[in-house]
Amino acid sequence: MHLTLKENEMLSESQGRATQKAMQILVALGEIYGAERMIQVTSVQIAGVSYDNLGEAGLKFLSAMADGGGRVRVLTTLNPAGMDTENWHNLGIQPDFAEKQQRVLEAFARMGVTTTCTCTPYLIGNLPHYAEHIAWSESSAVCYANSVIGARTNREGGPSALASALTGLTPEYGFHLSENRLPTLTIQVTAQLAETCDFGALGKVIGEQIQASRAVPYILGVHRATLENLKSFCASLATYGGTALFHMQGITPEAALFTPPEKRVSVSQAELEAAIHSLNNAAEEEVDFISLGCPHLSIHEIEHISRLLDGRQVKKEFWITTARTTKQIADRMGYTRIIEASGAKFAADTCCVVAPIQGRFTAMATDSAKACYYAYSKNKFKTVFLPFEDVVKQALL
Ligand code: F3S
Repeated sequence: MHLTLKENEMLSESQGRATQKAMQILVALGEIYGAERMIQVTSVQIAGVSYDNLGEAGLKFLSAMADGGGRVRVLTTLNPAGMDTENWHNLGIQPDFAEKQQRVLEAFARMGVTTTCTCTPYLIGNLPHYAEHIAWSESSAVCYANSVIGARTNREGGPSALASALTGLTPEYGFHLSENRLPTLTIQVTAQLAETCDFGALGKVIGEQIQASRAVPYILGVHRATLENLKSFCASLATYGGTALFHMQGITPEAALFTPPEKRVSVSQAELEAAIHSLNNAAEEEVDFISLGCPHLSIHEIEHISRLLDGRQVKKEFWITTARTTKQIADRMGYTRIIEASGAKFAADTCCVVAPIQGRFTAMATDSAKACYYAYSKNKFKTVFLPFEDVVKQALL
């Protein structure tokens, strides 16, 4: 790889051990993927924040980077942590875990990382513009940034995203290059998409179809999609297909640059319904946990929950997961008061997947296809997959 004088300086120890380590990570990545040079990034988002995933080794790495003088050079935000940083007691998180999680967040903060703890950075101020080069690592947010915004990022790991934060650089390969953003497969959707959960199910169907080929899909037949629909679709497509970029005619910005590829497959109503069916493996009577907010809820969705819960009492553990700043708007608008009066709980900064709740519940009701995937694979819960309003109704039964 060709490195500039300044980049070579970062690779020596002259700018500190952490910067040197960061450059070593980026150069190794660049060499693996055949990058010719580094490019500047303007925004970073780091996943791998929960102590439940990081463990002691991860905490040690982050502390060493902070002790080694690491300091971010661009706006850098964080993915959800393993707990609500203010309300963890009320969510059944153990003090020992809370202490370790706090140390993780402190290490990030010492490096100048803004400890937002959300997987929807684009809702709370880390919002790149079209064609901007960035280094993000949360898979749903990567898919959203590339596809819906038209920014350019590979799906970074936690260490490589941190390395980009500490240098302001990333190796130029993958989705940073225009030629890799071309669609390679047309997906004709004939299924009807009414609810956000339908978009999640669609992401599962398409993701499973393209997982092996790693195609960049060009999607036809989706005529309307809200921000909430798209964030759910992105999460699901990334989970079930490992997909970091799609184009959707009439919806995503780069779709207008291309014609649909000749190679084509379709998604029928029957396939969508089969996907929905496959995400339901629990009887409704078994549901003892409700969670909405994968990816983190928008303020619009929280307002919707507050209308549904106004004057009612929930009968089951119900987590509403969102970014702290979004919850602060909910506080100001009075939604929090209504929701908490019902017995439902905000779980800001965290989510039902990264919190240490493995085995704590039998079955979870959710409208997120991504949450279903991790409910089985990580937390050993069964799932009931329903439209948003029906999920809230489950909490009232
Ligand atoms: Fe976000 Fe957690 Fe889902 S990080 S996308 S809410 S698994």
